[in-house]
Amino acid sequence: MPAWLNDAVFYEIYPQSFQDSNGDGIGDLNGIIRRLDDIKALGCNALWLNPCFRSPFGDAGYDVSDYCLIAPRYGTNEDAEALFAKAHEKGIRVLLDLVPGHTSWEHPWFKASMQAGENEFTSRYVWTDSIWEEPAGYGSLRGISDRDGSCAVNFFTHQPALNYGFYRPDRPWQQPMDAPGPLATREAMKQVMRFWLDLGCDGFRVDMAGSLVKGDPEGKGTIALWRDFRAFLDREYPDAALISEWGEPDKSLLGGFHMDFLLHFGPSRYNDLFRCEKPYFAGEGDASAFVAKYLDSCEKSGGKGLICIPSGNHDMDRLSRHIPSHRLKLCFAFLLSMPGAPFIYYGDEIGMRYVEHLASVEGGYSRTGSRSPMQWDDTENAGFSTAPKEKLYIPQDESPNRPTVRAQRADESSLWHEIRRLIQLRRAHPALQSEGAIAFLSDGAQGRPLAYTRTQGRQRILVALNPASRPQALPVPAGHLLYCQGDAPTLVGDTLTLAPGSAVFMQLI
Ligand code: NOJ
Ligand code: CA
Repeated sequence: MPAWLNDAVFYEIYPQSFQDSNGDGIGDLNGIIRRLDDIKALGCNALWLNPCFRSPFGDAGYDVSDYCLIAPRYGTNEDAEALFAKAHEKGIRVLLDLVPGHTSWEHPWFKASMQAGENEFTSRYVWTDSIWEEPAGYGSLRGISDRDGSCAVNFFTHQPALNYGFYRPDRPWQQPMDAPGPLATREAMKQVMRFWLDLGCDGFRVDMAGSLVKGDPEGKGTIALWRDFRAFLDREYPDAALISEWGEPDKSLLGGFHMDFLLHFGPSRYNDLFRCEKPYFAGEGDASAFVAKYLDSCEKSGGKGLICIPSGNHDMDRLSRHIPSHRLKLCFAFLLSMPGAPFIYYGDEIGMRYVEHLASVEGGYSRTGSRSPMQWDDTENAGFSTAPKEKLYIPQDESPNRPTVRAQRADESSLWHEIRRLIQLRRAHPALQSEGAIAFLSDGAQGRPLAYTRTQGRQRILVALNPASRPQALPVPAGHLLYCQGDAPTLVGDTLTLAPGSAVFMQLI
């Protein structure tokens, strides 16, 4: 595993909504460069940028039409190089978003593969051999050209599925993983990775990583495929990091990913904590199913790689839509003290709100409200852009008390400052970093505290979190107080009593 991941704290940037530098209402790479010091001030030392490649933007850039070109609205490939270089000068790594499962239907590969006559791209996508047969289990594109076949799609209809083969082909048109077409797709994707790594990026977040090989319900083919990608990186770019959008660490980490996300879908029970009817961190929920699943994933992934817990992302509701503002700090005490590299979704560090009732933008639908432009200060458009308000990529939160970075930086008691302190605490203690071990002392059943120790070498730290609105007691090993959030606890004998909504970090002896 690249050593830099051990103390990495990531910040996810949705490029179109972060900082506009040329007044067209859309964020861009130069805007990100301008804000690197703000990211550094918070303490983050790594970025994940959502796709910024040429695209018709039917799915906000997850429909790529040229893997090796920055979309003009974000700038140029030279701007990307400058971003990598300036970020590196400041000790910040940059992951790009790789979308290996599908392209836009406007991609030249797809246009070539639509042709009736055989060519280099005939097998680049998953096509049946008759227009009358659809690829069972997948949506499809049909009747769009003279090619006699239907093409599988991965997500929206305009995102045809690239062909990595079938795990167990059982129709004549289903190709095995080692057929020339699937192998060529694999090589093409390695070329894309080489292209950006050579320009200076530090790795990739991989979109829909678990679904590349088709007819593969247990993921065995896809795991084998990723092992090959990982071997390629180990050989050619050993410092590059890979994180999967998969949500099943027992598969992704065995497949060679350095990191996998817990997500709002999949078996992880992540939603129990932050996004359900009674989220644990809102006060009265239950974290025990999450903890059981988490421990099971750790065991099944055999200690390989990192399980990463994000504050949110561009597909989920904003954290603050489900967690009351007076419990947001507690969420971050958890997120920033768990193993794995933490991921902070832009704006979550100030508790940005989900903007309700927005018209869908670029395939966002209900996700649009989590993608509104960053709120920096109290100038025009919250400092995001000098464009007229109606030209902004997505309308902003209109409330008069909308949070901003400037206001929170001026207030030591703000969420922004608390996150900064928690990151500093993590940096100063190896036990709290990505690879420190975890053992649970209390699993947060029925609103009880969540308590765990983190260990690295001889350093052992206890983290205890009480989201309930009543004090709660907990037996703890001997130690002294390292950090506390909210009202101070009492420690009598071995009984730690946590104040309502508080977090306690103890250095154990
Ligand atoms: C997951 C991405 O995060 C999401 O935004 C996108 O729409 C789908 N994959 C399809 O690429
Ligand atoms: Ca712009």
